[in-house]
Amino acid sequence: MNRLAVLGYPVGHSRSPAMHSAALAELGLGEEWSYEAIEVAPDAFEARVRAMPGEGFAGANVTVPHKSAALALADELSETAREIGAANTLVFAEAEIRAENTDAEGFLRSLPGSPTGRRALILGAGGAARAVVWALLREGAEVEVWNRTELRSQHLCEELGGRTVGAPEQGTYGLIVNTTAVGLGGEDPFAELPLEADAFATGQTVVDMVYGGEPTALLRAADAAGATTVDGIEILVQQGALSLETWTTRPAPLDTMRAAARG
Ligand code: ATR
Repeated sequence: MNRLAVLGYPVGHSRSPAMHSAALAELGLGEEWSYEAIEVAPDAFEARVRAMPGEGFAGANVTVPHKSAALALADELSETAREIGAANTLVFAEAEIRAENTDAEGFLRSLPGSPTGRRALILGAGGAARAVVWALLREGAEVEVWNRTELRSQHLCEELGGRTVGAPEQGTYGLIVNTTAVGLGGEDPFAELPLEADAFATGQTVVDMVYGGEPTALLRAADAAGATTVDGIEILVQQGALSLETWTTRPAPLDTMRAAARG
């Protein structure tokens, strides 16, 4: 048996087990591979991961709050993971732990078109923002970063590139990406973020990494204005597909993963 898992704290809400189990079944690998959720606190993370190869695990996804710890304990890092400073995918190969980051590429694949040359506004300066900023800069977008705590966005831009913005002009961006937690607990995005519900424009792409059962207030407003929207589930699916392909070396069944992730 090749075991896989997602490690998080908490992890009960994760859609990854349903999504990956459906994908493994679709690929005819349901008997040889399995995918489970493992809740592990930060102080137990490293020991838990180091025990996994001996328990039949071939790899793992890593989610909040373990993405930097995953990078720190790995023997080998992909260049993407190293530059972003976070890993969401671990591969247990022989005696080594390899760390990769599929969040950046998964984000790019979720976009309806190329971001090259587009002006992009990123809201937030946490781990999710780092992957998005890194990916967009690599593709040649013009990146501006707003964060509630400006010192953090300044720090992020010094490290990765892009520039901070204090009062963004919403209508001037081709791409707007919310990487903050706003909306997760039912907060009003138009109260917490520098956006207005009626200031989105046709032709914009608006991405909200927050995911739940319903479209977020942010995406509802963007959609009503004729913008193209991308939700957090699509990004989850795309990053998960890349992880699954790394572990199994088989093309991931995206539609099956989408259907399972949406429940
Ligand atoms: P992640 O790794 O998922 O990006 P994080 O590092 O905890 O998580 O970052 C959360 C982001 O959401 C931060 O940019 C945070 O802003 P601060 O740096 O000012 O804390 C942002 N955030 C959380 N709650 C927010 C709120 N109510 N209004 C605006 N931004 C918020």
